[in-house]
Amino acid sequence: MPTITEILDTMEYGPALENDTIARDWLARGPFGHFIGGSFTAPGAVFDSVNPARDEVLAQVTQGSAQDVDAAVAAARDAFPAWSALSGHSRARHLYAIARQIQKRERLFTVLESLDNGKPIREARDIDVPLAVRHFYHHAGWAELVAEEFAGQGPHGVCGQIIPWNFPLLMLAWKIAPALAAGNTVLLKPAEYTPLTALLFAEICIEAGLPAGVVNIVTGDGTTGAALVAHDGVDKIAFTGSTNVGREIRRITAGSGKALTLELGGKSPFIVFADADLEAAVEGVVDAIWFNQGEVCCAGSRILVAEAVAERFTTRLRARMETLRVGEPLDKSTDIGAIVHARQLARIRDLVAQGQAAGGVLHQGSAPEGCFFPPALMVDVAPANPCVSEEIFGPVAVVMTFRTPDEAVDLANNTRYGLAASIWSENLTLAMDIAARVKAGVVWVNATNLFDANAPFGGMRESGFGREGARAGMAAYLRPMRSGATPPAPGPIGPLPKTAPVSGLDRTHKLYIGGGQKRADNGQSYSVLVDGALQGHAPLGSRKDIRNAVEAAQKATGWTAMSGHQRAQVLYFLGENLAARSASLCAFASEEEIDASIARAFYYAAWADKFDSSVHDTQSAHITLAKYEPYGVMGLICGEEAPLSGFLSLVLPAIAMGNRVVATPSQSAPLAALELAQVFACSDIPAGVINIVSGPVGDLAQTLAAHDDVAALWSAQPALAGLVETESAGNLKPVWQVSGPLGQGREFLLAATQIKTIWVPYGA
Ligand code: NAI
Repeated sequence: MPTITEILDTMEYGPALENDTIARDWLARGPFGHFIGGSFTAPGAVFDSVNPARDEVLAQVTQGSAQDVDAAVAAARDAFPAWSALSGHSRARHLYAIARQIQKRERLFTVLESLDNGKPIREARDIDVPLAVRHFYHHAGWAELVAEEFAGQGPHGVCGQIIPWNFPLLMLAWKIAPALAAGNTVLLKPAEYTPLTALLFAEICIEAGLPAGVVNIVTGDGTTGAALVAHDGVDKIAFTGSTNVGREIRRITAGSGKALTLELGGKSPFIVFADADLEAAVEGVVDAIWFNQGEVCCAGSRILVAEAVAERFTTRLRARMETLRVGEPLDKSTDIGAIVHARQLARIRDLVAQGQAAGGVLHQGSAPEGCFFPPALMVDVAPANPCVSEEIFGPVAVVMTFRTPDEAVDLANNTRYGLAASIWSENLTLAMDIAARVKAGVVWVNATNLFDANAPFGGMRESGFGREGARAGMAAYLRPMRSGATPPAPGPIGPLPKTAPVSGLDRTHKLYIGGGQKRADNGQSYSVLVDGALQGHAPLGSRKDIRNAVEAAQKATGWTAMSGHQRAQVLYFLGENLAARSASLCAFASEEEIDASIARAFYYAAWADKFDSSVHDTQSAHITLAKYEPYGVMGLICGEEAPLSGFLSLVLPAIAMGNRVVATPSQSAPLAALELAQVFACSDIPAGVINIVSGPVGDLAQTLAAHDDVAALWSAQPALAGLVETESAGNLKPVWQVSGPLGQGREFLLAATQIKTIWVPYGA
């Protein structure tokens, strides 16, 4: 036993083990079945859930079969009518009861989470569990308000939810709370490494008196998840996990009509400018990459530091790294716990070895034997080093340097991901400029890894689409409830247009690309027949034309940089010019369509400078902005009906929000849209903002959907839903199927933008 003087000399921590009896007692009720229709099933074929820190089996849980998924979907479906018909207030009371009940059993949740996942008890206690509770309280509020705040919208139905192992209870809360608040019922599958707190949560549902079948929990591995994704009785899939599985889910759900949100991987930049408070930034790195063993999708895993301070910063960082204590998760002075599973440890080791083989130099702290990995920094890394490009999901960051803010932005954006970014500078002007320019769904200024139920969280690019938290997160669990009779489903798209020789006077319209009227690359055209009569000839665009059009749209960045007011001026001018040219448009579209188009131009001109971002009320001293940003280049596949106003119904909201578009007009009646080239050219619309490619819509849509430089896609061709959703899986662009009668409204503006959440601290 050391003396007090010796302790004061060394400042060594003594052991501070949390007593885990409470969790061990609870575990004694295993082996566990699923939670279906309000009660636990008998255990079936079981697998082990392991405490990675001690390599001991904690419990046996059931591997969910397709029949189990079937039974759980049926239970959720049975429960849906009554649950969705409850008043918002009644649902609020249920969510409130769940929040209270978790709070009452906070210690059990904390210890169980730490045992099952390997995370330090301090983090489970101070972050995971309180944030989960906060999530249920917050969404009890949304249940109360949903009818008022989301008028005309209703729940999807049964939601299939698949979550990862890094924040098991918290991810459950992020998924279940908004789904229930909106009136959906759910089937949740926890990750196979960490199913235990979800099973404890099932008990909470019973204790809180939640109606049977509203929440169902089926345990199992990826095959169980796959059965859930493929199930016909599921109306929406919400997934958090790896990008590869997310991509697979996108392909499998393509064309099924299931709503989908994906929260995937990341390789987030942590940018330190020369004027940053370096001490604070060092602590920031601790929270960015060494929090939760680095098993965090938004971990700041690429540290980009200004060359002027790089040496000073890295020296301090290495010194700090060496003080981190790695070991027993239940010890309250442990900073870094166990890696979730031996398989994940092997994956981390393998990636780090690849990084070293590629020339990276590794600096490490220390860690005990077992399923632990020491905190690490890799320096001297080239951009192609696998540790720079791949998500490691372990406590390893790479360090790179930059000289200018522009270079910092280039490095930050040199990734296929776009989940989060952390920016460190005492100059707020600079920090906000960089925040606007990084491609990330969440940006923290002089902070990192902050979360709140009232702050939207989610990614751009291959980090997925959809937001969780706040109003945007609620919106993802609702869909428009259209009143009146459903419009008849449009028929299939006609056969590929026949190419036609043009005789006599050449009245062939041209494609509109980069502000100029262009012949189709293959030089061919096709006849456009209206009621059997020849209306004219349209260019037969091909893949090559789509590629040229995307390139032109890529270059038209000036449009996105313009203010909403400036874009409004252009749209008003466009409206005026549509009116002035109505006589020539009359040859291709009805008077009603022309009038509707003019009105729509004015409508979106009105919106261009009014689609305001919000400031969310989060718990910490931050101004948390939820800023609507355009996607950049959008692909628009217009429908066969209403060749003029249908076309403009998609183009106008997209460009009003600052996007540049490549649009395919109606295949059978493209001339109205092509005729617009004349109007666009004289309306001050900069070259490349609107590009029009006519031709075989299936081929064109496929090329647009697969194009990596197209960031979002809308389709008003229901027959192509499966094709475009499958093709979109490459860069995981969001696809919006524009359904119902084409109209106008907020729905279009929301679909034309993505939210960037920016956390700006205040307080001296
Ligand atoms: P994963 O993506 O395979 O697992 C996440 C969840 O998806 C689990 O519940 C799993 O059972 C389920 N799942 C797996 N295959 C499925 C399928 N075909 N259909 C439906 N559900 C399926 O992640 P894994 O293998 O555990 O980790 C691998 C890597 O993924 C990590 O090293 C990390 O880089 C990344 N990852 C990222 C996460 C994030 O939050 N962004 C979370 C977990 C992992």
